[in-house]
Amino acid sequence: MQDIYILGIESSCDETSCSIVKNGTTEIATSTATQIAIHENFGGVVPEIASREHVKNITLVIEDCLKKADMDIKDITAIAVTYGPGLIGSLLVGLEAAKTLSYIYNKPLIPVHHIAGHIYANSLVEELKFPLIALVVSGGHTDLIKMTDHFSFEKLGGTLDDAIGECYDKVARVIGLPYPGGPKLDELSKQGNPTYKLPIPLNDDSYNFSFSGLKSAVINLNHNEEQKGKTINKADLAASFQTVAVKSLVSKTKKALLDNNINNLIVAGGVAANSILREALSNMCKENNIHLSIPPMCFCTDNAAMIAAAGFYAYKLGRKADYYLNSQSTTPLQ
Ligand code: KG4
Ligand code: ZN
Repeated sequence: MQDIYILGIESSCDETSCSIVKNGTTEIATSTATQIAIHENFGGVVPEIASREHVKNITLVIEDCLKKADMDIKDITAIAVTYGPGLIGSLLVGLEAAKTLSYIYNKPLIPVHHIAGHIYANSLVEELKFPLIALVVSGGHTDLIKMTDHFSFEKLGGTLDDAIGECYDKVARVIGLPYPGGPKLDELSKQGNPTYKLPIPLNDDSYNFSFSGLKSAVINLNHNEEQKGKTINKADLAASFQTVAVKSLVSKTKKALLDNNINNLIVAGGVAANSILREALSNMCKENNIHLSIPPMCFCTDNAAMIAAAGFYAYKLGRKADYYLNSQSTTPLQ
């Protein structure tokens, strides 16, 4: 088989990223410009600033990626790009760059859904084994997806309100940690114990999640302790929050696996970098004889390698776009 090289472009939020992946499984090179330091000053991503930064960085990351790979754009088989969901202005920058490369160099344009990208980050570790359950945990999503083949996505359940990453970031803010709070809360909780009593969210028989009540419980607890003149132990609060949030994710995931008689689990999205979640899922999978795949940290948060990996399987299925392809701020997984 002739090797297939996909150049992927990702710009849905605050990372401008370009990557080249061989045959959907091997990362050749990645170049990413992150905007964390800029948005940190505002406590969250400012969409207009994000778009402008993408404009500054997009050609730089594409050129840098090709240079790192020691490849010419003519060696590339197809261009894959995130078309949604995400911040519309940010998406447009990557999409226009991808369309331009596709048009000038006469390469197929492959549309990739951002969450499909997160799921396919796992194929950079090992080939996906079907049927599988994908637990998607990011800043905008908390979903349980059943897959019986490539690009066949059946949503079993999802969050009824806040996404888990959003909840981590908000709780981190209440505790006084800078943006993005998720990883910092994860670190801080290692110095604490789960001494505060918090409810396990939506502890029912469905495959759905709910995190807004848990977020409010943390805010109220913090507020009540302040009113009593007590100082909250931030590390203990972080550990208490993580304990119940992770319990909810793991118990619903286990239920989805056992009910559907599936023994392959993959984890996707930025919160897959969470140390407590990784450990709890790993223990649950060992106990239930389930094969677990979690991408390495660098492929958990937004990156273009995952888009190029998904792009390879989309290309094999003939999923090509024309130049009417538009960016979508919200769009179902397909
Ligand atoms: O997938 P991602 O990079 O962007 C979206 O598509 O949303 O996920 C970003 C989210 C943020 O909410 C961030 O705080 C969270 O992932 N995150 C973490 C950790 N690392 C990133 N949350 C908890 N623990 C972590 N170690
Ligand atoms: Zn993402």
